[in-house]
Amino acid sequence: MTRIDPKQLPAHVAIIMDGNGRWAKRKGLSRIHGHQRGADTVRKIVTFSREIGIRFLTLYAFSEENWKRPAHEVKALMKLLNRFLKAELEEMQENGIRLKTIGRVAKLPKSTRQILLDTVEQTSSNTGMTLTLALSYGGRQEIVDAIRKITGQIRENKISPDQIDEELVSNSLYTSGMPDPDLLIRTSGEYRVSNFLLWQISYCEIFITQTLWPDFGEDDFREALLDYQKRERRFGAA
Ligand code: FPP
Repeated sequence: MTRIDPKQLPAHVAIIMDGNGRWAKRKGLSRIHGHQRGADTVRKIVTFSREIGIRFLTLYAFSEENWKRPAHEVKALMKLLNRFLKAELEEMQENGIRLKTIGRVAKLPKSTRQILLDTVEQTSSNTGMTLTLALSYGGRQEIVDAIRKITGQIRENKISPDQIDEELVSNSLYTSGMPDPDLLIRTSGEYRVSNFLLWQISYCEIFITQTLWPDFGEDDFREALLDYQKRERRFGAA
Protein backbone atom coordinates (compact mmCIF):
# COMPACT_ATOMS: atom_id res chain seq x y z
CA MET A 1 0.00 0.00 0.00
CA THR A 2 1.32 3.47 -0.89
CA ARG A 3 2.16 5.47 2.19
CA ILE A 4 1.14 9.03 2.89
CA ASP A 5 4.25 11.20 2.95
CA PRO A 6 4.06 13.26 6.17
CA LYS A 7 6.26 15.93 4.57
CA GLN A 8 3.76 16.47 1.79
CA LEU A 9 0.57 16.73 3.76
CA PRO A 10 -1.86 19.51 2.92
CA ALA A 11 -1.69 22.08 5.73
CA HIS A 12 -5.37 22.85 5.34
CA VAL A 13 -8.11 20.43 4.30
CA ALA A 14 -11.65 21.70 3.74
CA ILE A 15 -14.58 19.31 3.40
CA ILE A 16 -18.06 19.68 1.93
CA MET A 17 -19.85 16.95 3.88
CA ASP A 18 -22.65 15.91 1.55
CA GLY A 19 -24.96 12.92 1.28
CA ASN A 20 -26.47 12.42 4.73
CA GLY A 21 -29.97 12.57 3.25
CA ARG A 22 -29.21 10.13 0.43
CA TRP A 23 -27.52 7.73 2.85
CA ALA A 24 -30.65 7.71 5.01
CA LYS A 25 -33.00 7.33 2.05
CA ARG A 26 -31.12 4.31 0.75
CA LYS A 27 -31.49 2.70 4.15
CA GLY A 28 -35.16 3.67 4.53
CA LEU A 29 -34.29 5.91 7.48
CA SER A 30 -35.16 9.54 8.25
CA ARG A 31 -32.88 12.39 7.12
CA ILE A 32 -32.24 13.16 10.79
CA HIS A 33 -30.84 9.65 11.16
CA GLY A 34 -28.51 10.43 8.26
CA HIS A 35 -27.29 13.59 10.01
CA GLN A 36 -26.69 11.62 13.22
CA ARG A 37 -24.49 9.22 11.33
CA GLY A 38 -22.87 12.22 9.67
CA ALA A 39 -21.98 13.60 13.10
CA ASP A 40 -20.32 10.26 13.96
CA THR A 41 -18.22 10.62 10.82
CA VAL A 42 -17.24 14.14 11.89
CA ARG A 43 -15.85 12.71 15.16
CA LYS A 44 -13.86 10.02 13.35
CA ILE A 45 -12.46 12.36 10.72
CA VAL A 46 -11.45 15.00 13.27
CA THR A 47 -9.54 12.37 15.26
CA PHE A 48 -7.90 10.91 12.17
CA SER A 49 -6.90 14.34 10.83
CA ARG A 50 -5.23 15.24 14.08
CA GLU A 51 -3.44 11.89 14.27
CA ILE A 52 -1.91 12.18 10.83
CA GLY A 53 -0.88 15.80 11.38
CA ILE A 54 -3.29 18.00 9.43
CA ARG A 55 -2.91 21.54 10.83
CA PHE A 56 -6.24 23.00 9.72
CA LEU A 57 -9.49 21.14 9.08
CA THR A 58 -12.52 23.13 7.96
CA LEU A 59 -15.94 21.49 7.75
CA TYR A 60 -19.02 22.86 5.99
CA ALA A 61 -21.53 22.01 8.70
CA PHE A 62 -24.41 24.39 7.89
CA SER A 63 -24.70 26.73 4.93
CA GLU A 64 -26.65 29.98 4.63
CA GLU A 65 -28.85 28.09 2.17
CA ASN A 66 -29.52 25.36 4.75
CA TRP A 67 -31.85 27.77 6.61
CA LYS A 68 -34.37 26.98 3.85
CA ARG A 69 -34.70 23.37 5.05
CA PRO A 70 -37.78 22.32 7.05
CA ALA A 71 -37.76 23.77 10.58
CA HIS A 72 -37.61 20.33 12.23
CA GLU A 73 -34.49 19.42 10.24
CA VAL A 74 -32.76 22.70 11.12
CA LYS A 75 -33.66 22.14 14.77
CA ALA A 76 -32.28 18.60 14.69
CA LEU A 77 -29.02 19.81 13.12
CA MET A 78 -28.59 22.46 15.84
CA LYS A 79 -29.28 19.86 18.51
CA LEU A 80 -26.69 17.55 16.99
CA LEU A 81 -24.19 20.38 16.94
CA ASN A 82 -24.87 21.23 20.61
CA ARG A 83 -24.42 17.58 21.55
CA PHE A 84 -21.25 17.29 19.51
CA LEU A 85 -19.68 20.36 21.12
CA LYS A 86 -20.55 19.26 24.66
CA ALA A 87 -19.36 15.70 24.11
CA GLU A 88 -16.12 16.62 22.35
CA LEU A 89 -14.79 19.41 24.57
CA GLU A 90 -12.73 17.05 26.72
CA GLU A 91 -11.35 15.28 23.66
CA MET A 92 -10.45 18.61 22.07
CA GLN A 93 -8.60 19.74 25.20
CA GLU A 94 -6.73 16.44 25.51
CA ASN A 95 -5.67 16.55 21.89
CA GLY A 96 -4.82 20.23 21.64
CA ILE A 97 -7.60 21.00 19.17
CA ARG A 98 -8.58 24.63 18.79
CA LEU A 99 -12.14 25.27 17.66
CA LYS A 100 -13.04 28.15 15.38
CA THR A 101 -16.21 29.07 13.53
CA ILE A 102 -16.80 30.95 10.34
CA GLY A 103 -20.14 32.28 9.12
CA ARG A 104 -22.94 34.50 10.34
CA VAL A 105 -22.96 32.79 13.71
CA ALA A 106 -25.24 35.48 15.18
CA LYS A 107 -28.11 33.84 13.28
CA LEU A 108 -27.76 30.55 15.18
CA PRO A 109 -30.11 29.78 18.08
CA LYS A 110 -28.97 31.24 21.40
CA SER A 111 -28.12 27.90 23.03
CA THR A 112 -25.95 26.83 20.09
CA ARG A 113 -24.24 30.22 19.96
CA GLN A 114 -23.49 30.05 23.65
CA ILE A 115 -21.94 26.55 23.59
CA LEU A 116 -20.05 27.48 20.46
CA LEU A 117 -18.56 30.66 21.95
CA ASP A 118 -17.70 28.82 25.18
CA THR A 119 -15.94 26.03 23.29
CA VAL A 120 -14.07 28.49 21.07
CA GLU A 121 -12.91 30.39 24.13
CA GLN A 122 -11.96 27.33 26.17
CA THR A 123 -9.92 25.83 23.35
CA SER A 124 -8.38 29.10 22.13
CA SER A 125 -4.89 28.47 23.49
CA ASN A 126 -4.61 24.94 22.06
CA THR A 127 -1.84 24.69 19.53
CA GLY A 128 -2.55 21.39 17.78
CA MET A 129 -5.00 21.20 14.92
CA THR A 130 -7.44 24.05 14.24
CA LEU A 131 -10.92 22.68 13.61
CA THR A 132 -13.14 25.25 11.91
CA LEU A 133 -16.87 24.71 11.64
CA ALA A 134 -18.56 26.70 8.88
CA LEU A 135 -21.99 27.55 10.31
CA SER A 136 -24.60 29.73 8.68
CA TYR A 137 -21.78 30.15 6.19
CA GLY A 138 -21.84 31.40 2.62
CA GLY A 139 -18.81 32.39 0.56
CA ARG A 140 -20.58 35.31 -1.11
CA GLN A 141 -21.88 36.57 2.23
CA GLU A 142 -18.34 36.35 3.59
CA ILE A 143 -17.08 38.55 0.74
CA VAL A 144 -19.95 41.01 1.33
CA ASP A 145 -19.05 41.17 5.03
CA ALA A 146 -15.38 41.76 4.13
CA ILE A 147 -16.36 44.63 1.80
CA ARG A 148 -18.46 46.17 4.57
CA LYS A 149 -15.52 45.89 6.95
CA ILE A 150 -13.10 47.49 4.49
CA THR A 151 -15.46 50.32 3.49
CA GLY A 152 -16.07 50.98 7.19
CA GLN A 153 -12.33 51.38 7.71
CA ILE A 154 -12.15 53.74 4.73
CA ARG A 155 -15.04 55.80 6.09
CA GLU A 156 -13.24 56.11 9.41
CA ASN A 157 -10.09 57.19 7.56
CA LYS A 158 -8.15 54.20 8.89
CA ILE A 159 -7.13 53.14 5.39
CA SER A 160 -7.29 54.63 1.91
CA PRO A 161 -8.79 52.79 -1.10
CA ASP A 162 -5.38 52.33 -2.74
CA GLN A 163 -4.34 50.23 0.24
CA ILE A 164 -6.84 47.55 -0.76
CA ASP A 165 -4.87 44.54 -1.95
CA GLU A 166 -5.23 40.74 -1.83
CA GLU A 167 -3.68 40.58 1.61
CA LEU A 168 -6.12 43.11 3.05
CA VAL A 169 -9.08 41.26 1.52
CA SER A 170 -7.80 37.90 2.87
CA ASN A 171 -7.36 39.43 6.29
CA SER A 172 -10.88 40.83 6.23
CA LEU A 173 -12.49 37.43 5.62
CA TYR A 174 -13.81 35.18 8.40
CA THR A 175 -10.75 32.96 7.78
CA SER A 176 -8.29 35.75 8.55
CA GLY A 177 -5.02 34.32 9.86
CA MET A 178 -5.61 30.85 8.39
CA PRO A 179 -3.76 29.53 5.35
CA ASP A 180 -5.94 28.95 2.28
CA PRO A 181 -7.09 25.33 1.88
CA ASP A 182 -4.72 23.11 -0.11
CA LEU A 183 -7.25 20.33 -0.58
CA LEU A 184 -11.04 20.49 -0.87
CA ILE A 185 -12.90 17.20 -0.50
CA ARG A 186 -16.54 16.82 -1.48
CA THR A 187 -18.44 13.64 -0.70
CA SER A 188 -21.36 12.04 -2.53
CA GLY A 189 -20.31 12.79 -6.08
CA GLU A 190 -21.59 16.28 -6.82
CA TYR A 191 -19.30 18.52 -8.90
CA ARG A 192 -20.21 21.77 -7.20
CA VAL A 193 -18.53 24.33 -4.96
CA SER A 194 -21.82 25.32 -3.25
CA ASN A 195 -20.74 28.76 -2.06
CA PHE A 196 -17.91 27.36 0.09
CA LEU A 197 -14.72 29.39 0.68
CA LEU A 198 -14.99 31.07 -2.73
CA TRP A 199 -12.03 33.41 -2.33
CA GLN A 200 -9.86 30.90 -0.48
CA ILE A 201 -10.04 27.99 -2.94
CA SER A 202 -8.43 29.85 -5.87
CA TYR A 203 -5.49 27.42 -6.10
CA CYS A 204 -6.96 24.53 -4.12
CA GLU A 205 -6.80 20.92 -5.32
CA ILE A 206 -10.25 19.32 -5.47
CA PHE A 207 -11.08 15.69 -4.68
CA ILE A 208 -14.58 14.40 -5.24
CA THR A 209 -15.63 11.00 -3.99
CA GLN A 210 -18.86 9.10 -4.62
CA THR A 211 -18.85 7.96 -0.98
CA LEU A 212 -21.71 9.46 1.03
CA TRP A 213 -20.59 11.41 4.12
CA PRO A 214 -21.88 8.90 6.73
CA ASP A 215 -19.81 6.19 4.96
CA PHE A 216 -16.69 8.37 4.57
CA GLY A 217 -13.87 6.79 6.54
CA GLU A 218 -10.11 6.69 7.01
CA ASP A 219 -9.64 4.80 3.75
CA ASP A 220 -11.46 7.47 1.75
CA PHE A 221 -9.48 10.19 3.47
CA ARG A 222 -6.21 8.35 2.78
CA GLU A 223 -7.21 8.03 -0.88
CA ALA A 224 -7.82 11.80 -1.07
CA LEU A 225 -4.46 12.55 0.56
CA LEU A 226 -2.57 10.15 -1.71
CA ASP A 227 -4.27 11.64 -4.75
CA TYR A 228 -3.30 15.13 -3.52
CA GLN A 229 0.33 14.06 -3.10
CA LYS A 230 0.48 12.91 -6.72
CA ARG A 231 -0.51 16.33 -8.04
CA GLU A 232 1.94 18.93 -9.16
CA ARG A 233 0.94 22.30 -7.76
CA ARG A 234 2.20 25.18 -9.85
CA PHE A 235 0.01 28.06 -8.64
CA GLY A 236 -0.24 29.37 -12.19
CA ALA A 237 3.50 29.24 -12.90
CA ALA A 238 4.95 27.35 -15.89
C1 FPP B 1 -25.37 17.35 3.79
O1 FPP B 1 -26.25 16.29 3.71
C2 FPP B 1 -24.99 17.72 5.13
C3 FPP B 1 -25.47 18.79 5.85
C4 FPP B 1 -26.54 19.68 5.37
C5 FPP B 1 -24.95 19.17 7.14
C6 FPP B 1 -23.75 18.45 7.66
C7 FPP B 1 -24.03 18.04 9.04
C8 FPP B 1 -23.46 17.00 9.69
C9 FPP B 1 -22.40 16.20 9.10
C10 FPP B 1 -23.91 16.61 11.04
C11 FPP B 1 -23.70 17.54 12.15
C12 FPP B 1 -22.42 18.28 12.14
C13 FPP B 1 -21.57 18.40 13.18
C14 FPP B 1 -20.38 19.27 13.06
C15 FPP B 1 -21.76 17.67 14.44
P1 FPP B 1 -27.59 16.48 2.88
O2 FPP B 1 -28.70 16.49 3.87
O3 FPP B 1 -27.50 17.67 2.01
O4 FPP B 1 -27.58 15.17 2.04
P2 FPP B 1 -28.33 14.93 0.64
O5 FPP B 1 -27.70 15.87 -0.35
O6 FPP B 1 -28.02 13.50 0.36
O7 FPP B 1 -29.79 15.19 0.87
